[in-house]
Amino acid sequence: MANRIVIHADRAKGTINRNIYGHFSEHLGRCIYEGLWVGEDSPIPNTDGIRNDVLQALKQLKIPVLRWPGGCFADEYHWKDGVGPREERKRMVNTHWGGVVENNHFGTHEFMRLCELLECEPYINGNVGSGTVQEMSEWVEYLTFDGVSPMAEWRKRNGREQPWQVKYFGVGNENWGCGGNMRPEYYADLYRQFQTYVRSYGDNRIHKIACGPSEGDYHWMETLMKQAQRFMDSITLHYYTIPGSWSEKGSATGFPESEWTITLRKALHMEELIARHSAIMDQYDPDKRVGLIVDEWGTWYDVEPGTNPGFLYQQNTIRDALVAGITLHVFHRHSDRVRMANIAQLVNVLQSVVLTEGERMLLTPTYHVFNLFKVHQDAELLDLHETVEQIGSGQEALPQISASASRDAEGRIHLSLCNLDHRSGASVAIELRGWIEGDLQVKGSLLASERTDGHNTFDSPDRVAPAAFTDFVVEGKQLTANLPPMSVAVLELTAR
Ligand code: AHR
Repeated sequence: MANRIVIHADRAKGTINRNIYGHFSEHLGRCIYEGLWVGEDSPIPNTDGIRNDVLQALKQLKIPVLRWPGGCFADEYHWKDGVGPREERKRMVNTHWGGVVENNHFGTHEFMRLCELLECEPYINGNVGSGTVQEMSEWVEYLTFDGVSPMAEWRKRNGREQPWQVKYFGVGNENWGCGGNMRPEYYADLYRQFQTYVRSYGDNRIHKIACGPSEGDYHWMETLMKQAQRFMDSITLHYYTIPGSWSEKGSATGFPESEWTITLRKALHMEELIARHSAIMDQYDPDKRVGLIVDEWGTWYDVEPGTNPGFLYQQNTIRDALVAGITLHVFHRHSDRVRMANIAQLVNVLQSVVLTEGERMLLTPTYHVFNLFKVHQDAELLDLHETVEQIGSGQEALPQISASASRDAEGRIHLSLCNLDHRSGASVAIELRGWIEGDLQVKGSLLASERTDGHNTFDSPDRVAPAAFTDFVVEGKQLTANLPPMSVAVLELTAR
């Protein structure tokens, strides 16, 4: 049996929300400090303290939305410590992540400037675990109130006359764990209380986000939907791909062959999690008013040897590129419920798109997937049927191919293909049905590596980088593509 894909060009299945391509930045390790923020006096070229090289790289990705300040840090963060003259800001201990000093130099104004420079929506996560209703309420007032009020006046004194537009606001993070170790019944009540004071001022409409479950905690989802769904616009889900266990996660590079398959299989578990959580949501919200936001996902390995264990710094290989590709395809398939996703994390932490070392920067294989896949943002998801080979058998089996197709506003069709097989190339016969525009013209890009742990280093930053993809044959409205082992390709299909 060969791999066969049928794309129905005339059957759109809804829009792929661009927010599925969102990112996450936390005060953790070298994500904010060094990765994004170097300060205005740094020898590293910067714009208002934000490093230019990283900024330029991230702008390419067309990041739609960026979550901040955490993560676990969010429920320890007191936003008032991070506004006003920088030299007067409080220094605190980042107890959760490495016990390092947090000087609060990157705060509300700096984050909002970063979003402005990236032209993305801010998604701010408030503190429920160790914060107060008043503190959360005043943050929203400080950010968005246009008028005379203590917080608006304070914002103006701190140099920002106009309020900002803030759409996405999270009420707590992982409140079942680092955000307060709460039971779902207790958090549901707290959520109802805190969100009451998260006000929409003027024309700024806040989209309220409740803290949802970890992985397969269906009881948490059920309780929140039952007790609080009418007070929320979205609810979150966190799921990380860990090849081993929490105590021995596995290495990001130099891993045994068996961990290739385990990792991809665990990544594909996202499909079941979303399907089962969505089924619960459907019972309480059959019209799908409430969105599911997967605001933490990605691979999590043992930290790079010799680095601070609290900094969660890991390398990023072609295996991560495949995890990114197949997970984004899962989100596409569930775009009726999944309205946003935020890979963890943007720079230097977990499955990052960018790594830095002092003044040097590299783009990871995951970066290249996000860059190739950005053509799917806000495009119409097309009905697609795949009949694909299996790698392995029984519980161990993996599909050889994962695919997704969309049509953009200009009528171009983009087909993304992942070959999960680390040993063999894959031939894929693709048929386009319902396409009346004429014979096909195809062009494509390919990301591949000859090693399962192929990755970029600061000395060889382009070992794993996209190249033109030409190994395909077009006949009328059909094409056959030959993918090398462990590769990701994106094809553009237009009329000749
Ligand atoms: O992304 C790292 C951490 O993982 C986040 O702070 C937390 O929310 C999750 O447990």
